[in-house]
Amino acid sequence: MVEIGKEVEKAAEWLRKGEVVGIPTETVYGLAGNALDSMAIAKIFDVKKRPMFNPLILHTDHPAKIPQFATHFPPLMQKLANTFWPGPLTMLLPKTPAVPDLLTAGNSRVAIRIPRNFLTLKLLAKLDFPLAAPSANPSGYISPTTARHVAEQLGESIPYILDGGKSIVGLESTIIGLEADGSLRLYRLGGLSLEKIEEVVGPILPIKLKESPQSSGQLKSHYAPEAKLFLGKIEELWERHASEKTAILRFDSAVAEIPLQQQFILSPKGDLNEAAANLFAYLRNIDKADFDTILTEKLPAIGLGPAINDRLTRAQHEFK
Ligand code: TXA
Ligand code: MG
Repeated sequence: MVEIGKEVEKAAEWLRKGEVVGIPTETVYGLAGNALDSMAIAKIFDVKKRPMFNPLILHTDHPAKIPQFATHFPPLMQKLANTFWPGPLTMLLPKTPAVPDLLTAGNSRVAIRIPRNFLTLKLLAKLDFPLAAPSANPSGYISPTTARHVAEQLGESIPYILDGGKSIVGLESTIIGLEADGSLRLYRLGGLSLEKIEEVVGPILPIKLKESPQSSGQLKSHYAPEAKLFLGKIEELWERHASEKTAILRFDSAVAEIPLQQQFILSPKGDLNEAAANLFAYLRNIDKADFDTILTEKLPAIGLGPAINDRLTRAQHEFK
């Protein structure tokens, strides 16, 4: 069985042996391995049952190490790094030959981030290699925000989980790419709001959706709970799905006509950051409580609202 603990050196020992371990970050827990070792990377794909065409993020602890992994680190990206790292921001930069093609799934850019968690930063400082880490969930399921979430789903396949407490942001990092012409583009909404990024670097290019759903990793279901999730107007959805096995997931207040024990309120005080931090744990709790249907509606589209709405959209039953 997997061991859960706070021993950075123990995690480091397993990683030096080529093993994969669970690590805490402020966004979600990661499934980490040596990012420069193709065997360790292959193990991550295997444990997660992740398709090999979906690349992994490289995690490091200091901007001074970026030139080992990226051929260019332009001033605009450095400005973002200085403002938001360590933090929930990932950058796509042109990769150096030191970065294995398996990590980037053959892409010429590598995704890099410096996470904000004390134990993981200590771990990265001890190691003489960076860590590849996707979210530590089986491919397609909700990302984990506690060590226990990781143990419940991947505990059979990994030797150690470094327990750094609850992930305080609760949504995966926001991904920004450096385009060929030097401009910046949004690739994933996440734990750092677009407003904050644009305050520092001005307007950036929007997400480019892939042309056909078949060829797209971006349109496919992600983050989906086992219960069937419907997104719309709760009162209308309830008319079709009224049942004791239906849960309501809502931003800041309960619906008057529905029993309270079926309702999950993300932030009673109406704080979008708190809602983000609770989202994945609440979806798991709903699954554990044996509800078979979830009715939910979009949150206000400011701050972390759009990133939360993106996760809810992809978690919909019709996207499965
Ligand atoms: O907050 C996070 O980013 C967490 C923690 C553990 O750091 N990690 C995470 O990893 O969410 P993952 O693998 O679940 O999601 C990474 C996303 C994927 O959508 C992947 O396609 C994209 O990053 N990505 C990674 N490398 C890329 C690359 N070279 N080019 C384009 N997209 C890339
Ligand atoms: Mg993931």
